[in-house]
Amino acid sequence: MALQTINPTTTEAWSKLQAHFKNIQSKHLNDLFAQHQDRVKDMTISWDDFYVDYSKHRISEDTMDLLLELAHEVKLKDAIEKYFGGDVINQTEGREVLHTALRNPEHTEVLVNGKNIMPEIYQVKGKIHRFSSDIINGSLKGYTDRPFTDVVNIGIGGSDLGPAMVVDSLTYYKNHLKTHFVSNVDGDHVNEVIKQLNPETTLFVIVSKTFTTQETLSNANTLRDWFLNNAPNDAVSKHFVAVSTNIEKVKSFGIDENNIFPMWNWVGGRFSLWSAVGLSISLAIGFDNFDKLLIGAHKMDEHFKTEDFKNNIPVITALLSVWYNNFFNAESEAIIPYSQYLNQFATYLQQGIMESNGKSIDRNGDTINYQTGTIIWGEPGTNSQHAFFQLIHQGTKLIPAEFIGFAKSLHGNQDHQDKLMSNFFAQTEALMGGKSRDAVKSELLAQGLSEEKIKELTPFKVFEGNKPTTTILIEKLTPESLGKLIAMYEHKIFVQGIIWNIFSYDQFGVELGKQLANTILKELNDENVINNHDASTQNLIKYYKSVK
Ligand code: F6P
Repeated sequence: MALQTINPTTTEAWSKLQAHFKNIQSKHLNDLFAQHQDRVKDMTISWDDFYVDYSKHRISEDTMDLLLELAHEVKLKDAIEKYFGGDVINQTEGREVLHTALRNPEHTEVLVNGKNIMPEIYQVKGKIHRFSSDIINGSLKGYTDRPFTDVVNIGIGGSDLGPAMVVDSLTYYKNHLKTHFVSNVDGDHVNEVIKQLNPETTLFVIVSKTFTTQETLSNANTLRDWFLNNAPNDAVSKHFVAVSTNIEKVKSFGIDENNIFPMWNWVGGRFSLWSAVGLSISLAIGFDNFDKLLIGAHKMDEHFKTEDFKNNIPVITALLSVWYNNFFNAESEAIIPYSQYLNQFATYLQQGIMESNGKSIDRNGDTINYQTGTIIWGEPGTNSQHAFFQLIHQGTKLIPAEFIGFAKSLHGNQDHQDKLMSNFFAQTEALMGGKSRDAVKSELLAQGLSEEKIKELTPFKVFEGNKPTTTILIEKLTPESLGKLIAMYEHKIFVQGIIWNIFSYDQFGVELGKQLANTILKELNDENVINNHDASTQNLIKYYKSVK
């Protein structure tokens, strides 16, 4: 059954939230803490190895009650059932949204067109298991009988960002295989990777759900040409495998049927790392670790499905995001992992969040007159403290931030770990509490500055504070906890899409540029092809052709 189509701004909760916002918008977090004794206890969710403190938000208990009322009014519970139950909730593309089934235990049943998809999922999982184990242990070898040393993942968007982020985040768990990711159609990208490869010992994994994506096919062709400059034709079958739904196109590329890892239309590209799209993950960290990632995600699925909304991490984090986006008019959200391993996490989430919820037409097909998709950005702390934190602390924009940290470091260097986490806690404390005029004055006085100098400097050194943050503290970075974290964001995206009454699982907005690029490409290569463009584009094409 289809999702309900409720305009959130027409709900009672929305009107109440608007009125409530007027009361709370100018309140300082310091006062909200002073007024609510059990604030931390009431606004912390402890679940498994996750500890989520959302007390440093510009909310009261009333705010949360109203946001939860909103969730009920837009029928979130009903939507969750449809999501997990395999209803066609990606209505504009006529598809189910079932990445959650990919991490279900084997004995469960998920029906698509009356057929249980779990046996097929486990068949492909078995193939991933066997193949990655044989490559890792060296029993599958290259065309000169040498074991593989390098794996190249060729894909873009969801066929790149997920596996690339997970492999990078789980570097600690990696085996001897060197994993490379080629995504950009920029030829310098693929050529820099080629420089590092030996054709005799390199495995190429072409990942494309559609197998029509320009970037991926160009890179795959370039790599195959390079490979065949060094190896005989029949070596391709030992060195090239593909992950796709488009079996015919893969075969016509010249890939052996045995080397195809299928995926399905009910898995969206940006939610596909749990499918065979994650083959590079399984190769890099071994199947058992890949499976633990899936187990972690499944635990988060269960939490999301069954936990009361009041203690439901994806629900609460999504509601907070709606609160800032639609009532405070915050333009963006920062994601700050205090772990260098999570270096690519915000980049990965940019696709997940912005491709899903960057929509301006609602589920009725009407133009939306409220804000939807948030702009996501971020970098690991502490590096980001020395880069853009100035703007969060003292700039003019309100930027709610999610701080993600791990209590235990992987290499056990406690000295560094304590320094890292002291920065984590200090930043959320500083963002919240700020620094008052009086505190600044007495500090400058203690430094022996003159009255005049103190007066001159004080305004610049005051921190207003009142900057909201969520703390997501996880015991340790493991495949399982990373699986939980990624699934948490997947469900947060879903909840936001439901509230905003949009379709989160299509991405038509990326099509126009692709079409125009194909038209322009013909012009760049053929003097006789001249199309109509605006004056600026026309001139740029002419200039490029004269200097290229
Ligand atoms: O950017 C649009 C998009 O369709 C993404 O959603 C997808 O992840 C990416 O292109 C790659 O598509 P494919 O896996 O079909 O090559």
